[in-house]
Amino acid sequence: MFQKSAFQKHIDEKVEDNRRLVEADPHRLDYHLMPPAGLLNDPNGLIYHQGVYHVFFQWNPFETAHGKKAWGHYVSADLINWTLEPAALIPDAWYDKNGCYSGSAVMHDGRMHLFYTGNVKDEGDRRSTYQCLAVSEDGVDFEKKGPVLHLPDGYTPHFRDPKVWKEGDRWLMILGAQNMHGKGEAVLASSNDLTDWEFIGPIAGSGMNGLPDFGYMWECPDLFTLDSKDILIVCPQGLEAEGDDYPNLFQAGYFVGDFDSVTNTYMHGDFVELDRGFDFYAPQTFTDDDGRRILIGWMGMTDDQEQDQPTIRNNWIHALTIPRTLEMRDGVLVQQPVAELRQLRGKRKHYSQLALEKDVVFREVAAPSSEILLEFNRPVDGRFEMEIRNDLKISYMDGRFTVQRKTFDGASSEQRTFALDTLSGLQIFLDRSSVEIFINGGEAVATSRYFPAENDDAVEIRGHMHFDLSLWELEGSA
Ligand code: FRU
Repeated sequence: MFQKSAFQKHIDEKVEDNRRLVEADPHRLDYHLMPPAGLLNDPNGLIYHQGVYHVFFQWNPFETAHGKKAWGHYVSADLINWTLEPAALIPDAWYDKNGCYSGSAVMHDGRMHLFYTGNVKDEGDRRSTYQCLAVSEDGVDFEKKGPVLHLPDGYTPHFRDPKVWKEGDRWLMILGAQNMHGKGEAVLASSNDLTDWEFIGPIAGSGMNGLPDFGYMWECPDLFTLDSKDILIVCPQGLEAEGDDYPNLFQAGYFVGDFDSVTNTYMHGDFVELDRGFDFYAPQTFTDDDGRRILIGWMGMTDDQEQDQPTIRNNWIHALTIPRTLEMRDGVLVQQPVAELRQLRGKRKHYSQLALEKDVVFREVAAPSSEILLEFNRPVDGRFEMEIRNDLKISYMDGRFTVQRKTFDGASSEQRTFALDTLSGLQIFLDRSSVEIFINGGEAVATSRYFPAENDDAVEIRGHMHFDLSLWELEGSA
């Protein structure tokens, strides 16, 4: 207990010391969850219980680098106003001393149960992994119960990220794993009481179910039913870029399929990327009392550019995406910003039936935190171009959608592009240094960080088209 409170005190001091730096940072985020100090990565333990949304997150409060992760903890009654709670898990036990890695939360018998991966490295940097449990009566203070599942035969210690749910009268856990042949898999374990877990085996993986070689490790799996289909979200590492696909270092995507909980088998279709931007990884989903399936992702990536982000000067890095509801539409997973975000809408500018001619530029200004809604009165048939804050360029031409941003050093630009049959609408969420673009009502999404100059507020639109445009200033809350 003493050790835990000393650690928390250290975090509180760090957060307090950093407060002014973050407040003065023009790139800090207004309405996204970000770390008050240090590095944030995966969302963890997403759960709604008794009127409270809990968002835990991978957190290194002391450095803007990856390391011994704790579980940070934000709570909210409305998905808009968030409060930082004490860290829920800190890496202070022999079985998690090098990090309380990602995992999930379930309620049982009125107590919140967190499942997470205890990451341990020995003097020779060799890794061990333990799937651990921690329990709480009040959803704030957690008591560790230690490992509940050990590494099964046939797997390397890259075995982590337990996501737990109830299926009939048993509990299931899905984990990301690397088998002894160096292939990524999603594997299952089951339990009757949340304490004794039995390993079952893989339900999907590289080289399984008709998949070709598909990565050396799968991280952060999540399996859930939506509209009578079973969706497996997973983050494969080690896919080569292929045309427009898999351009980021690691991928986050999903399979649509059918899970048979009697035979523990999963038949599925092709892997589809969840997001076409630069910064999206390790998403997790949960349901709330309205029955909504809500997804939150990490708006970041563990890659070479990570350490070039300018916020590092102010001792923080990365953020989570806005919460998005999931729905199936024609076999595709559709993501839409949760309706609560409308509460952020402040001053609005609106133009209806704007008609642009070729070579005419429409100019407006957008506050650093804005929502932009563009509805095309008929789908765009020529070229559409939009430039935001002199940094970001969005374009659509010949059935291809492109997002371009300046590289973080400002020296050049880089782009992500993908095929899109028609363009009928765009809903764009800008925060000071992030953009989330929902295309055609969420049929496709592109999420990115960008770091425009503080006073650049120009929005320019070019093309030959008719559209309605609304632009709201958003009022920060996170
Ligand atoms: C994904 C991940 C997880 C791991 C966590 C560590 O970003 O690598 O697999 O549990 O981050 O912070």
